[in-house]
Amino acid sequence: MCGIIARIGHGDAAETLLTGLENLEYRGYDSAGIAVQNGSGVKVHKCSGEVSELKSQLEAHPNGNMGIGHTRWSTHGPPTDENAHPHTDTVGDVAVVHNGVIDNYDELKADLRSKGHEFESDTDTEVIPHLIDEYRAETGDTETAVRKTVSTLEGSYAIAAIVDGEEAVYAARKGSPLVLGLDDDEWFLASDVPAFLDYTDEVIYLEEGDLVVLEPDSYQITDLDGTPVERSSDTVDWDPEDAGKGEFDHYMLKEIYNQPTSLSNTIEGRASDGEVSFENLTEGTFSDVDAVQFVACGTSYHAAMYGGQLLRSAGIRTEVLRASEYESTTGPVDENTLVVAVTQSGETADTLEAVREATSRGARSLAVTNVVGSTAARTADDAVYIRAGPEVGVAATKTYSSQAVTLALLTQQIASDVPGGEPAADKATLLESLQDLPEHVEEVLESSQAEAVARERLDSQSYFFIGHGLGHSVALEGALKFKEITYEHAEGFASGQLKHGPLALVTDETPIFAVYSGRGDEKTKTNAIEARSRGAPIIAVGPDDHSLADAADTNLSVPDTHPVWAGLLANVQLQLVSYHAAKLLERPIDKPRNLAKSVTVE
Ligand code: AGP
Repeated sequence: MCGIIARIGHGDAAETLLTGLENLEYRGYDSAGIAVQNGSGVKVHKCSGEVSELKSQLEAHPNGNMGIGHTRWSTHGPPTDENAHPHTDTVGDVAVVHNGVIDNYDELKADLRSKGHEFESDTDTEVIPHLIDEYRAETGDTETAVRKTVSTLEGSYAIAAIVDGEEAVYAARKGSPLVLGLDDDEWFLASDVPAFLDYTDEVIYLEEGDLVVLEPDSYQITDLDGTPVERSSDTVDWDPEDAGKGEFDHYMLKEIYNQPTSLSNTIEGRASDGEVSFENLTEGTFSDVDAVQFVACGTSYHAAMYGGQLLRSAGIRTEVLRASEYESTTGPVDENTLVVAVTQSGETADTLEAVREATSRGARSLAVTNVVGSTAARTADDAVYIRAGPEVGVAATKTYSSQAVTLALLTQQIASDVPGGEPAADKATLLESLQDLPEHVEEVLESSQAEAVARERLDSQSYFFIGHGLGHSVALEGALKFKEITYEHAEGFASGQLKHGPLALVTDETPIFAVYSGRGDEKTKTNAIEARSRGAPIIAVGPDDHSLADAADTNLSVPDTHPVWAGLLANVQLQLVSYHAAKLLERPIDKPRNLAKSVTVE
């Protein structure tokens, strides 16, 4: 939901800013812009469209050793040149990039207009450079002006500003992420680490209310009152190679094919000798928990459904709630409730808000996330990392698999800790078969017929996905992925629900992907066969040893494994179907229209 970057150091900044913005495009790609300072004014270049459009419009890189950049996902105003960031004050001395939403921008704008400020865009952001300008005139000092500005703003922000004639970048954050990158002779600020990972892996995750002033040879972090604060640095263990596309046409395909590796990393050291152990969660961590609530959105919600079902079957009172609906759907919460935020990015506003609400009611919190130092990781009482490595494609793939595995393992630990919890009776077998999962994913990737299936069903009217039990969440995820990147209509259902309404839509133009576990999944088999007798083509997705495979038109088979892991293998097949269908339809797979990877607005 918008990516920002800033750089100050020796040598020109423009190239670095543009590369950084390309690495942040997963956060939004409606418009892009940079502003650089070169001693003869602040130069702003911006346009609607992707960073590639901005690059093609720049005849030569503007000179200047410091600058700011932005790639946008529109909230206030359409994706036009005028609404692209950076925004400036009336005379163009102050340039600002912003990620977040300013709730009180209307009244601030009216007030500033009455003082003679002129506005050019529909954005909420534009009030920020005008406020800085106003307070500079009042106080004669830019740092004080930035401090006054951010204390006037209501809402969320990560901002970076440059000012004509000053060798400094000013930045602040509240409610939106901002990371400081430290290199030998240059500093960076960005919404996320991949923006500057080519240059440095030493980072400081800024905290709520931090205000930073970067100068070419020094930086200072203060709180909103101006008191200096110490923040320790971390070394990021992501390889810059991980953030690139490699030999693949799309990030999504690269990330699907990365799953044997990412899953091995997720599992490593956490499931050995028949026991589960997380590095930071000692035995008994959850002994006072008597109920668990999962909160999540989108794909993470489907992973949470997976984990939730396993936890329920381990005898723990469990709710799986859509984070955006938390307030209206939660049951009673108290200090014995554990709220588990499942979020790849750790920055999803709806999920963070649900955690805030749950903790304000007394719950204890745990973040299950991929991003070290993310807001979820820093604000929850505990954090477990899914260790999937960077995921750039807007459509989540490898992170879903790593989330589901992490939650399945977490379930075993919670069930062991909570009095009355019942860890799986076949826990040793479950954990042993988990070791084979990366290899089984490899087998699916090597032998999948997903491309042929996608081609055969390409001109269908609608695509249905059904599944029962753990397969239900896989069916929902399969449908979400399909609609997200193909723009075709797709719906997921619990197998048994088909006959309660959706069957009315079934024709020979509605292929049904039936996710089945291969053992005792009679509901999926029966309902798929009922739909088939109404003309629907059936694609069975699961192990071969099930009679549904014989009744189906096509099979996307997966290796035989423990039923808990079978759904994850089926999901890999469905990821490939979506990918190939979207490719055949020539969709912009990594950047589907209207979407952004990290949704930092409610
Ligand atoms: C998945 O393909 C989507 N892009 C989206 O549903 C995503 O899973 C959701 O926005 C939640 O994101 P999070 O995991 O970063 O919280």
